[in-house]
Parts: sequence; structure tokens; C-alpha cells
Amino acid sequence: MSQNTAAPRTVTTVTADQPRIQQHRRYLMCRPEHFTVSYTINPWMVPANPTDTAVALRQWQTLYDTYISLGHEVQLIDPIPGLPDMVYTANGGFAIDGVAYGAKFRFQERVPEAPAFMEWFRENGFEVVDPREVNEGEGDFLLVGDTILAGTGFRSTGDSHREVGEVFDREVVSLNLVDPRFYHLDTAISVLDPVQGPGGVERANIAYLPSAFDERSQAILAERYPEAILVDDADGAVFGLNSASDGLNVFISPRAKGFEAQLRERGYNPVLVDLSELLLGGGGIKCCTLELRR
Ligand code: ARG
Repeated sequence: MSQNTAAPRTVTTVTADQPRIQQHRRYLMCRPEHFTVSYTINPWMVPANPTDTAVALRQWQTLYDTYISLGHEVQLIDPIPGLPDMVYTANGGFAIDGVAYGAKFRFQERVPEAPAFMEWFRENGFEVVDPREVNEGEGDFLLVGDTILAGTGFRSTGDSHREVGEVFDREVVSLNLVDPRFYHLDTAISVLDPVQGPGGVERANIAYLPSAFDERSQAILAERYPEAILVDDADGAVFGLNSASDGLNVFISPRAKGFEAQLRERGYNPVLVDLSELLLGGGGIKCCTLELRR
């Protein structure tokens, strides 16, 4: 007869009675003054479909005002005529502790944005690292606790994962994206906040869309984030995961009904902001938001 020798497992359940703590955020945004869809570099972009720049500006302004009203700081970079995707500032770089790793865009249409963002970082007191490898900034790099989750498959290359690890001297976990609708990591993972892990250790939590990843990456995420919120395909398909969080307030699309309920259950405060016009360019809340970690 064999004896059961499995060690007892400590399971931490995250419940609504765990207090959520709001953290102060500094963001970089860009007014969509020149927003339109005139080329296709992701499946959401259909140049034949009309866009309305006034609507984009109004929706974007609501996001800006929401951040400000909740006490966050927002800095702005000037939009450049002819660069309609510049509103998606998340792709402009990746900044931690006052160091900004510059972007190097995959598609020619966005290449000229990179020097504009690097100049902004320099003028605003960041030490800028010129990238050698193709990478699209915080679109594909997410800081979760002390670890950098790095996406590849469509935009940023695997070599950029090595480079970002060297620049910041942190652990980098590479994840493979497999669904062309979710071509940047920030369309499939949302970083929520630190949670209290076993032994009282602060650990960061995430929400993600499992079907956006290959099997190996799904296994890594399941192992590292046992308390993660798993978002279903319907909420993923409306860019529900393309959201920002301050640890308490989670800024999400009003269409992501299931995710909204999941967040409430865990004690977060979902703040609904509709960026439907910007979704025509394949971007949502997170894409329009770059975190400035000084
Ligand atoms: N049209 C842009 C592109 O395809 C959208 C970028 C969305 N940004 C993001 N962080 N997911 O590059």
C-alpha cells in the first residue's frame, strides 16, 4: 500500500474582503488629433471603414479626464501629422526607474514614431537606451512585480526580450502570442496589482486570455499566477484585457461584461471607458497609456 506523501498545499484565495490599495500612477498619452486608419498592420484596421477623428478625440479625452479625476498624473507628447497611430503611446517605449528602453517598430508606417518618443523621454529626464532589436515598448513588455513579461509572435522579437533583460537587469519571461487579433501582449494580459501571497509576500496579479497564447505560455502563466483572473473569449474579443489598473480602479471597456463582474468579485473597482473609435485602429485603453516609472 502506498502512502500519500504529498505535502499540504497553501492556497491563497483572493476575496472581496481583501482591501485593494490604490497606487499613484504617472502616464504618457497623446491626443489623437491625427487619428485615422489609412493602412493595415493588424486585423482590426480596415481603411475602407470610415473613422471619425472628433469621436476619437472625445473618447480619448474621457480617458484622460478619468485618470486626472482619480488623482493620477498624465503627461502629453505632441501628436505628429501623418502618424495616426501615435495615440497608442504604450508602444513608444518601456520605462522603469527613470530608464526608458526605446521602441523599434516592426512596420515602416510606425518607424518614425520611435525617435519622437525617445526625444520626449530625453527631454523629460529619462536615460534613454537606443534599442538594437525590434520591439514595441509596453505593448509587449509588462512589468509584473519584479518580472518583465515579454510577448512575441507578431511584433517584438525574441532578441528584444534578451535585450530588455540586459537593459533592466530583471527576469524576463517570454510568452508566445498565437492569435493575430491579440498581436501585442497588452491585448491579452492585464496587470492588476500586488496581492498578498503565501507567507505575506507581496506578489503581483494579472488577468489574461488563455486562448491568445500557445500551450507552453499558457502553462507558464498558470504556474506563475495561480490566482489570475482568466478572461473568456467574448471579453477578450472586445479588448477587455487592454486595460490599465492602479491597484483599485481597473480601467476597462464597457463591453467586457464578464471581466467587469470578475473584477468586482475580487474587490476591484471597474471604471468603464469606451474607446470604440480607437478600436478601429486595433487599440484600447492600455494602448493609449504608457506608464512612466521614474
Ligand atoms: N494600429 C496600432 C498598431 O497596429 C495599434 C497599436 C495598439 N497598441 C497596443 N499597445 N496594443 O500598431
